[in-house]
Amino acid sequence: MEKRKIAYSAIQPSGTFTIGNYFGALKNWVKLQDDFDCLFCIANLHAITVPQVAAELRKRTYESYALLLATGINPEESLVYVQSEVPAHSELCWLLNCTTYMGELSRMTQYKDKSQRQGKNIRVGLFDYPVLMAADILLYQANIVPVGEDQKQHVELCRDIAERFNNTYGNTFTLPEPYFGLAGKKINSLQTPTKKMSKSDDNVNSYVSLLDNKDTIIRKFKRAVTDSDNRIIYDRENKPGISNLIEIYSCVTDKDNDQIEKEFEGVGYGDFKLAVGESVANHLEDLQIRYKEFLADKSYLDKMMKQGAETAQSVAYRTLSKARRRLGIIEIKK
Ligand code: TRP
Repeated sequence: MEKRKIAYSAIQPSGTFTIGNYFGALKNWVKLQDDFDCLFCIANLHAITVPQVAAELRKRTYESYALLLATGINPEESLVYVQSEVPAHSELCWLLNCTTYMGELSRMTQYKDKSQRQGKNIRVGLFDYPVLMAADILLYQANIVPVGEDQKQHVELCRDIAERFNNTYGNTFTLPEPYFGLAGKKINSLQTPTKKMSKSDDNVNSYVSLLDNKDTIIRKFKRAVTDSDNRIIYDRENKPGISNLIEIYSCVTDKDNDQIEKEFEGVGYGDFKLAVGESVANHLEDLQIRYKEFLADKSYLDKMMKQGAETAQSVAYRTLSKARRRLGIIEIKK
C-alpha cells in the first residue's frame, strides 16, 4: 500500500471555541483522517505567548482535548496530544532559533498585529511563536499543514527555515506545505460581518461558542447585524451580514448558496435568522453531548493524553536527535 502523507495541525487552548473554529477547521480535520496520517496538537506552549491565568489554561487544555474527540477525531487512529508533554518541541524551537533571522520574524503579519495591539512589554515568546510552530511541524516530518489563511505565512516561514537548515547542515526535515484542500469556510462576526468571527471579541453577541445552549444560539442569530433591503441573496460586498448567514447555513446543511437563496426566496430576515439559528443549534447538539461525556471522564482523557504523548515523544525524538547530530550537539549514550 502506498504510504499516506502526514498531516499536522494544532489549536491553541485559549478561550472558547466558536462555530468559526469548528466550520473553518475542526470539522475538516475529522475528514482528513480518511486520507492522511494525522497529528493534532493542543498547542498550550503557544497559548502562553500572551498572558494566561494558570487555572484556566489547565482547564482549557482538557476542554480542548475533549472537544477534538467530540468532533469525531479518533485518538486511536490519529495522534492527538498536548504540546508541552513533548519537550522536543521546545528544544527544536531553540535549535531552529539559531537558524532563523530576526528580519523574517519581524515580517510576520500576525506578530505585527498582535504586538501593535499589546503596545508595551511585548514578550519574546510572541515574537518567536512562528519558530515554535515550525518546530511542531518539522518534528513529525509533516507533508501538509491544514490551516486557515491567517497561518499561511507561518507555514511558509517554516518551509524556509527547514530548507535553510537542510542546505546548511544536511537533509533533516521534510518541507511542509500549507493545505487548504478542504478549505473550511471563513465565518465572520455576527456583529461586524466584515471581520472574522473571533473568540476574543469583547462583544459576546459577535460569536457563537460551540458550547452555547440553544436559546443563546438563537438569540445571537436573531441579533445578527444585517442590511435593510430584506432579500436573502449572497453578495459578500454589499450584503456581508446576510452572506455570512448564508455561509453558516451552508456549512450546516451542505447546501450551496443558490439552493439557499431559493429556499428562502420571499422569506423575511427575521425568519431566516431563526432558521439559521435553529439549524446551528441542532447541528451542535450531538457534539455538545459527546463533549460533556468526554469531559466528565477525566481518567479516559488522561489515558488518551498519555498514550498520545508517548507516541508523539518517540516520533519527535527521532527528528530532534537527527537535528542535534547535524548541528554537532553531542548525545551521551545512556
Ligand atoms: N498558530 C496556530 C493557530 O493559532 C496553531 C498552531 C500551533 C499550529 N502550531 C501549529 C497550526 C502547527 C498548524 C501547525 O491557529
